[in-house]
Amino acid sequence: MEQMDKIPNNVNLSSDRRLQRALEQWMPNYLAWWRQMGPDGFQEHEVYLRTAVSVDPDGWAHFDYVKMPEYRWGIFLAPPEPGRTIGFGDHVGQPVWQEVPGEYRNMLRRIIVTQGDTEPASVEQQRMLGHTAPSLYDLRNLFQVNVEEGRHLWAMVYLLHSYFGKDGREEAEALLERRSGDPDRPRILGAFNQPVENWLDFFMFTMFTDRDGKFQLYALSESGFDPLSRTCKFMLTEEAHHMFVGETGIARVVERTCQLMQQARSTDEEAVRRLGGIPLPMVQRYINLWFSLSEDLFGGEISSNAADFFAAGLKGRYKEGTYQDHVALEGTYRMEVPTAEGGLRTEEVPLRTAMNEVLRDQYIEDCQRAVDKWNRIIERSLGAAAAEQLLRLPHRRFHRHIGLYAMPGHHFDPEGRPIDAATFARKRDQWLPSQSDRAYIQSLMTPVYGRGQIANWLAPPARGIQGRPFDFEYVRR
Ligand SMILES: [Fe+2]
Ligand SMILES: [Fe+2]
Repeated sequence: MEQMDKIPNNVNLSSDRRLQRALEQWMPNYLAWWRQMGPDGFQEHEVYLRTAVSVDPDGWAHFDYVKMPEYRWGIFLAPPEPGRTIGFGDHVGQPVWQEVPGEYRNMLRRIIVTQGDTEPASVEQQRMLGHTAPSLYDLRNLFQVNVEEGRHLWAMVYLLHSYFGKDGREEAEALLERRSGDPDRPRILGAFNQPVENWLDFFMFTMFTDRDGKFQLYALSESGFDPLSRTCKFMLTEEAHHMFVGETGIARVVERTCQLMQQARSTDEEAVRRLGGIPLPMVQRYINLWFSLSEDLFGGEISSNAADFFAAGLKGRYKEGTYQDHVALEGTYRMEVPTAEGGLRTEEVPLRTAMNEVLRDQYIEDCQRAVDKWNRIIERSLGAAAAEQLLRLPHRRFHRHIGLYAMPGHHFDPEGRPIDAATFARKRDQWLPSQSDRAYIQSLMTPVYGRGQIANWLAPPARGIQGRPFDFEYVRR
């Protein structure tokens, strides 16, 4: 089939008639979804995009101008590892599964659908941002992230079509029918129904929410279901750029704000606003919001689902190979549990039920590394005045909607101290983006489409894409 030849793949698609037929039926619906819910406008523009063309670490991607609807969404799995065995859980040491193990079919489908649902959701959340891009470089990065999230959806749909028969095909359709933020048919996970209204949201999203994706994909790349493992391994290659966009995006906001503070000879918020920059306390409030929303994506602190996924060998830990004990039946995990009186007590929970928390620990560590980098920018430019301006991650108990710290009647400040509802409500606008923050950020969101130009609130990147200069025409009409 000619249409199938257009799908770059390393799964020998042309030899599998049944899979071809399923994907051929799905593809027009996917393209209809892209037209309706993908980036608003710009569909006829030529964008300098990276396309995955193989899994060769030295040359997996091809860069060229492409119109987004003509992007070649491909299906790539990392190469199989001969003799690979299940790395953890009750089946540790047994050969990995090449077909879906019957007893875990529902669990596995749920894992794949939940991961798959996040991919189109993020495209929907970001669909209006092209109209306010701060530079052509940023516009291109937005679209790069969008087409690759589209490819990640393809990756999950490939698994559903190949391994789950009729209900897999139904789930693949449903992935195109849910809509981010729609009250009647929302996306599955909370953060993927939140509005991404402006470019600060976008940088926060790619920094914190795509980074949840990194850890989920790492955990799934340990899976005993080999096709899932191999798919996720290759997705991680692309995901790295998404997190780069977020981490460096925030760094560039911070850098520009520091320049403006130097220019004003003042660290005062008003002084920064007068010069059209984003004050660091406002950046902090956006960090507080997106970090806490993204922490929720790891699930409850004590979770029987997490224990089941681990026991079954479907979802492991981040870099499972670095652990000594892959069965995890003996150990415990110490955590702080809220009490009825509004305090906290320490509890030891069985390790397998704490797997979400184990993964969240590593996520937080990775986020902290980025915050430290941003703070070095502040220290370099402000010297002695930096101390007051440094950014930090809020405590993991702050502003949670899932798990122990989200229990009704429990509230925590950004240091993690229990507080009452009235205090939280009173302080909310100091800790999280307020209406006036949003209005201010919105007022900065005017598009800059000239070659080599950039919005006043943002510093240019240190370098361009694929050796191109910053003033390269990354998007052209
Ligand atoms: Fe993704
Ligand atoms: Fe991503």
